[in-house]
This record gives sequence, structure tokens and C-alpha cells, in this order.
Amino acid sequence: MTISKTGMLPALGWNSWNTFTWDINETLIKEVADLFVSEGYQEAGYEYIVIDDCWSLRERDENGNLVADPKKFPSGMKALADYIHEKGLKFGMYSCAGTHTCAGYPGSFEHEFQDAAQFAAWGIDFLKYDYCFKPRQINGELLYKRMGIALKNCGRDILFSACNWGEDNVYQWIRESGAHMYRSTGDIQDNWDSIKNLALSQLEKECYTGNYCHNDIDMLVVGMHGGSNNDFIGSKVGGCTDTEYKTHFSLWALMGSPLMIGCDIRKASKETKDILLNKDLIAINQDPECRGAYRIKPEPQWFHGYDAFMLVKLLANGDLAIGFFNLGEGNRELPLLFWDMGLPYASGTALSLYDCWEHKELGTFTERFAPTVAAHDCLVVRAKVVKR
Ligand code: GAL
Repeated sequence: MTISKTGMLPALGWNSWNTFTWDINETLIKEVADLFVSEGYQEAGYEYIVIDDCWSLRERDENGNLVADPKKFPSGMKALADYIHEKGLKFGMYSCAGTHTCAGYPGSFEHEFQDAAQFAAWGIDFLKYDYCFKPRQINGELLYKRMGIALKNCGRDILFSACNWGEDNVYQWIRESGAHMYRSTGDIQDNWDSIKNLALSQLEKECYTGNYCHNDIDMLVVGMHGGSNNDFIGSKVGGCTDTEYKTHFSLWALMGSPLMIGCDIRKASKETKDILLNKDLIAINQDPECRGAYRIKPEPQWFHGYDAFMLVKLLANGDLAIGFFNLGEGNRELPLLFWDMGLPYASGTALSLYDCWEHKELGTFTERFAPTVAAHDCLVVRAKVVKR
């Protein structure tokens, strides 16, 4: 048996929910697929195009099958899958472990094997599996395990994206369920507080991510600028600056989260594209060993509080990806002592640093490096270990 690479690395793609919620259709999805190719997203590694909630009719058919809404998807899901596959891309859909999806469409509860077969027949490559309307007396862990088996046995290689919002101690059992990625948080909103709170909530969880089961901190809001059709996600809560989106992308990339674009890429600005298509950041996120990033608190800790820190991720070739994050207000100097990464002066080493946002070498440093980082901004470097 050859080992599948599906889900081995964090998924890269686009999902309809953040911007469009219920307002989806096949024209939109095809346009996104076209732009993936023409605007360089595919070349940068983005692969999955995922339709979220609200794609089906409110009722199953007489055989109990899910039915795509013919007004939104007149050509049907198989034709849409073919269109996406012809471009060398992959197609994702959405269902729910409960009786209904969060928006009230039919869920897969007690239809798991039937639905997995249906998804395979349509040619889908990715299933996001939500948690609304789960019957209270049923153990949720069991429902993810059930769908995990159904997908593994449906005859098609399908990435299983669990979405139970970090509930029920999901860290402890999700890898066993067969899920390739799992949502560890509630829903993201297109504002700075949400980005900051989601990232901070996962900082002590770096051991719960890795190849074939990635901690998913939720879809990106990069480039949305308040452009959601949903009040909660963004139209009323405001949007962020490009600097804040850059920091958001850097946190997600370093922390090994799947990078699922959530903005309307038909309207993406140059600044948005520079963030989403940053090859140095994507390479850190897609490092083959998928080691978690650990936090180092700058000294003195009483001065920095919890919202300024470094994240360090050991990469497969021996380099270290290091992010300096200032999630607080005002400029901060963030001194990194190499000792705190296991590199004392006596080791005879120095670090040659490359700036992954400015795309330039910063020079070689011994013992410490102390950049000043503006409010809500970050510096991400790739550090090569060299002889002093
Ligand atoms: C939520 C989920 C969101 C989105 C939404 C659809 O539970 O966290 O990402 O899928 O449901 O209704």
C-alpha cells in the first residue's frame, strides 16, 4: 500500500464561509478556481476550494440522499468537481456531525456512510465536518470516529477536516478519529481582538499538532476588510489593517495551522496578495516535519505581559523559523537570547538571519537579537545555524 499524502501537511486553500456565508453558487466557485490559477495562488501551493454551509436543499430526497440546491448549483456537484479537477485543484464540501448543519440544512448524523459514498461519487477531496445539532445524549468523539471510518472506506482519498470548535477535550482523541485537521477554536471574526484571542488560546498547545492531524485555528480573515455579508464575522465588527493581517498570517503560518483563505479573492488588493502569496511564510507553514512552534517570553516578563513573545519552530533542514510578535500597543523591543533556544555562547554557534517579509538577509548574530517591533506588527526570520 502506498501512503497517501492527503493531510500530511497543513491544507492550503479557500473556503466560502467568511465572506459569502449563505450566498454561494457555482459561478462564484468557478471564478475562485480560475483565479487560483491566473493569480498565482495555485503556484504558491493553494489547492483546496471548499464550499461551506448552505449548499444543499433543506430536505434529503426520497432515498435519503443529500441534494445540492439546483438554484445555486444548477450543473450539480459532479460537474463542479470536474471543473475544479481539470485545473489541477481539489474540491471540498461541508457537512455536520449533528442532525442539521449550523444553518439548519440536513446534517450527516446516522447518514454517515451514505453521505461519504455520495461525496466520493461527486468527486470531492475534502470534507469539513461541523458540530451543530449534535444529539445531547450522543458522545461527539464517537461521531467523528464514525465519519473517520466512513471516509477511509468510501473508495476515495478525502481529507477529513473536523470542526468541533475545540470542545470536549478534542486534543486528546482527534488524531485517533482519522481527522487530518481539527478546529481548536470558536469562529474567527474579522477584527484584531479575535485574531489575537484565537492565537493566544493555542499557545500552550504546540504539542497537539503534527503531520496528518493539524491544529486548525480557523480560516483566515486576511484581506476581508469588513467585507463579510454576515454581521458576526465582519460587516459590523470592522476589519483590520494590512499590518494586522500580516501578523495574523504569520501567527497561523508559524503555528502550523491550515491556511484557508476567507476573503473575496476577486477583489484582493496588492497588499492582500503580498501576504497570502508570501512564499517564505508558506514554506515555514509547509515544512515537512510539521513541528509545533514554542513560545519564548522576552525578559523582563513583568514588562511585556502576555501579548509580546517569540515563536520558534524547528525546520526539517535544521533552520529555525522565529517570529517576533507584538500584539500589544506601542513599540516594543523583543530581545531573544539564543540561550533560550538551546544555543549558548559556548556552543560556538551564531545565527544568520533572513527576513521573511522584507525578503532580505539581516546579517549574522551571536548570543542575542533584539528587534523593535511596532504595535500589532511582527518580524519573521528564518535563522541558519552557522559557526561563530
Ligand atoms: C460553524 C463553523 C464555521 C462555519 C459555520 C457554518 O459552526 O465553525 O466555520 O462552518 O458553522 O454554519
